[in-house]
Amino acid sequence: MSKLEIRKHPKLFEVYVSGPSDNLRLYSKNLIPGHKVYSERLIDYKGIEYREWDPYRSKLAALILENPMSNFLSNTLNCLYLGASSGTTISHLSDIVKDGIIYGIEFAERSIRQLIQNTSNRKNIIPILGDVRYPASYAKSIFNEIDLIYQDVAQPNQAEIAVLNSDYYLKKDGLIILAIKSQSIDSVSKSQEIYKREKEILENADYEILESINIHKYAANHIVLIVKKEN
Ligand SMILES: C[S@@+](CC[C@H](N)C(=O)[O-])C[C@H]1O[C@@H](n2cnc3c(N)ncnc32)[C@H](O)[C@@H]1O
Repeated sequence: MSKLEIRKHPKLFEVYVSGPSDNLRLYSKNLIPGHKVYSERLIDYKGIEYREWDPYRSKLAALILENPMSNFLSNTLNCLYLGASSGTTISHLSDIVKDGIIYGIEFAERSIRQLIQNTSNRKNIIPILGDVRYPASYAKSIFNEIDLIYQDVAQPNQAEIAVLNSDYYLKKDGLIILAIKSQSIDSVSKSQEIYKREKEILENADYEILESINIHKYAANHIVLIVKKEN
């Protein structure tokens, strides 16, 4: 078996890969060495600890493996993460956005308890118990203008929720990365019609859809949109 070699992702900041380009594995550098957040593999490579990033458990990892053109990561981003769950994806984002803050909103009490337990040693994550349909309700907990909204909530009105939060918190030229699940919106309509409808909601609200990426390979009935706030 060939030895694992970890190298920088060709474009995305603080994302790491191994293997051939048609079968990449993804990693982030562990901000808290020795600590796992879920059941991810920890790998020591040349004295640095990496956390393997599973595209079947993280739609952000799935998006990255589908080669988006946008370069949306940096170390200083302030992020609003809608649907933080127990911490899988937000913890990888926390490895990357070392000098920014990530506000993680989650409304399920069990999940937020796990999120707090899993990420209490990560100083750049602020878990907030809140309902993303009502962005004003968590305004007192958010102290920065937001550069990036990441949304993965599987709610019926996903685009509308993104616009509501963006209007409230996202700065001009900020980005939204929005996972859209077709069945959770309306199981009767066909996926393509649902994606089209959600995109129209964004465009009618004056957002520019930079990319629309199919991640069905990793997450059934999902696409991810990269969206820019124009004004
Ligand atoms: C698909 S999971 C998110 C997984 C997570 N993004 C990850 O990759 O680690 C969706 C999460 O959104 C949460 N959620 C759904 N509707 C919500 C709402 N209205 N407000 C806050 N959280 C919500 C659910 O409780 C669930 O934890």
